[in-house]
Amino acid sequence: MTKTYKLAIVGATGLVGRTALKVLEEKNLPNFEYKLFCSKKSAGTKLRFMGKEYIAEELKDSSFDEGFDFAIFSAGGETAKHFAPIAASKGCIVIDNSSAFRMDENVPLVVPEVNPEDVSWNKGIIANPNCSTIQAVVPLKPLDDKYKIKRIVYSTYQACSGAGRKGIEDLITKATGNSLKKFPHPIYNNCLPHIDVFEEDGYTKEEHKMINETRKILGRQDIRITATTVRVPVENCHGESINIEFENDFVLEDVINLLKNSPGIIVEDDVSNNIYPLATNANGHDEVFVGRIRKDFSNPNSLNLWVVADNIRKGAASNAIQILEKLI
Ligand SMILES: NC(=O)c1ccc[n+]([C@@H]2O[C@H](COP(=O)([O-])OP(=O)(O)OC[C@H]3O[C@@H](n4cnc5c(N)ncnc54)[C@H](OP(=O)(O)O)[C@@H]3O)[C@@H](O)[C@H]2O)c1
Repeated sequence: MTKTYKLAIVGATGLVGRTALKVLEEKNLPNFEYKLFCSKKSAGTKLRFMGKEYIAEELKDSSFDEGFDFAIFSAGGETAKHFAPIAASKGCIVIDNSSAFRMDENVPLVVPEVNPEDVSWNKGIIANPNCSTIQAVVPLKPLDDKYKIKRIVYSTYQACSGAGRKGIEDLITKATGNSLKKFPHPIYNNCLPHIDVFEEDGYTKEEHKMINETRKILGRQDIRITATTVRVPVENCHGESINIEFENDFVLEDVINLLKNSPGIIVEDDVSNNIYPLATNANGHDEVFVGRIRKDFSNPNSLNLWVVADNIRKGAASNAIQILEKLI
């Protein structure tokens, strides 16, 4: 008899959760049953999914009693910290989009194009990396395998959707002062060098996430990494300038061909025709778009890349569902 899998979507009413529903509809995985959860606030919300009307239910401690095989959590760190261990204790494998478990050494942090083998040692929870880290490591992995990365300098241009529904609202309503819902300053007409909270060392938590998660996913604790993460007035899709220093020298043509032939990457690099990755083109796609591929002449064995991806899809929902596909 064919097994039917039960999948819980936690945070189904949010930006990532709704996108997960869309991606699941596109994939139409065989033999799956679904249940949708949110907080008390939106309990009862009707969501059209798989040609049916689903009603999102309030997530409770008892929600996992009925037995789920898998759960995709997109409901923030506090919700994950409380409910993911409960779900896991009842035999459910949780794929969590928050930062709650990413650096836990007992939890694999997975990007399927990079370290798919890590799903196998999960103990009931698998973490989905930060959106800005996911799109960076997809092109970094084949380059690291071939040329061995010594140092990375990240400069990000991150979309408002990365801050959830309220982030988009601040952009489209051109909010200022007391009407701001998410950001500390107006995002319309501004770039804010401030994502997540500031730490004692002057870096933001988002910058620390990029540094630590890159090392964990690539399995290279020795890489020197620095990052500046910036919120920009773009609705969706993060852009990243990535400067990489390698141990070994490279021929630029070989790098371009390597990236063209690596999974999950689309190279868009024809500057004579003004072709390079754009947020408006990456929107709605699961691939990572790479362009402006050029040597950094100021340093030996160094390369510059411009990398754009849909932070809600590849940066969260689609990556989580790719992990689910690996599990089944
Ligand atoms: N946006 C991105 O680019 C991105 C990328 C990677 C990872 N993430 C992570 O994904 C998660 C969701 O982000 P988002 O952008 O989708 O945020 P969002 O639009 O604000 O949605 C948050 C979701 O979480 C639900 N929720 C909140 N508290 C809950 C609780 N106690 N129990 C059950 N559900 C609860 C909300 O339900 P209600 O409707 O009831 O409030 C809503 O469905 C966050 O952990 C975020 O860090 C986001």
